[in-house]
Amino acid sequence: MFRILNETPADSAEVEYLYDLVFAPGRTALSSYRLREGVEPVAGLCLVVRDEYDVLAAAIRFWPVRVGPGGPPALLLGPVAVHPTRQGEGLGGLLIGASLERAREGGWTRVILVGDEPYYRRFGFTRATAAGLDYPPPTNPDRLLARGLVPGAFDGVAGLVSPWGSAAGA
Ligand SMILES: CC(C)(COP(=O)(O)OP(=O)(O)OC[C@H]1O[C@@H](n2cnc3c(N)ncnc32)[C@H](O)[C@@H]1OP(=O)(O)O)[C@@H](O)C(=O)NCCC(=O)NCCS
Repeated sequence: MFRILNETPADSAEVEYLYDLVFAPGRTALSSYRLREGVEPVAGLCLVVRDEYDVLAAAIRFWPVRVGPGGPPALLLGPVAVHPTRQGEGLGGLLIGASLERAREGGWTRVILVGDEPYYRRFGFTRATAAGLDYPPPTNPDRLLARGLVPGAFDGVAGLVSPWGSAAGA
């Protein structure tokens, strides 16, 4: 039996340990971490999955970003991780589906991530560079994916994915 819960400060160290376990060393050097620096994650969208023994099985976090400096808001999905002993049981899909539903209910309209298109396409994500989105280097443009949570969410919205606090014209 799994439970989806809001991440609390008491979960933080365990979630970081899970990320260290599943991601390659040096993950914090990625450009996504520069976009997250000094910005609080989005409360209510950072979720954990615990099993019947209260062991952490999976976690997802979201940060706010802008499309273009000072531009329209979007969510940056990730990191999302499932413990290696629990992968392939549907927990990743469960967390992504639940958090995207909460995001839509919370009024968010755009979600961006850097990840494997063959996995994320099942959640409606498509490659974003063709639509005019760009991401700080070093990032493989084929891994930049986006999904609107409402129809037309990305119409006329393009540019470099930028920090939440960035100013227009920067
Ligand atoms: C990627 C991850 C979150 C998926 O969660 P999960 O619970 O293992 O996956 P689910 O059970 O929801 O889905 C399993 C399906 O996804 C597929 N899948 C998993 N990772 C995939 C990938 N990187 N590319 C393509 N397909 C993938 C599986 O083959 C399986 O396919 P099937 O349904 O056709 O059998 C998890 O495996 C993980 O934590 N991996 C390591 C960390 C990572 O890469 N995070 C994502 C980048 S931010």
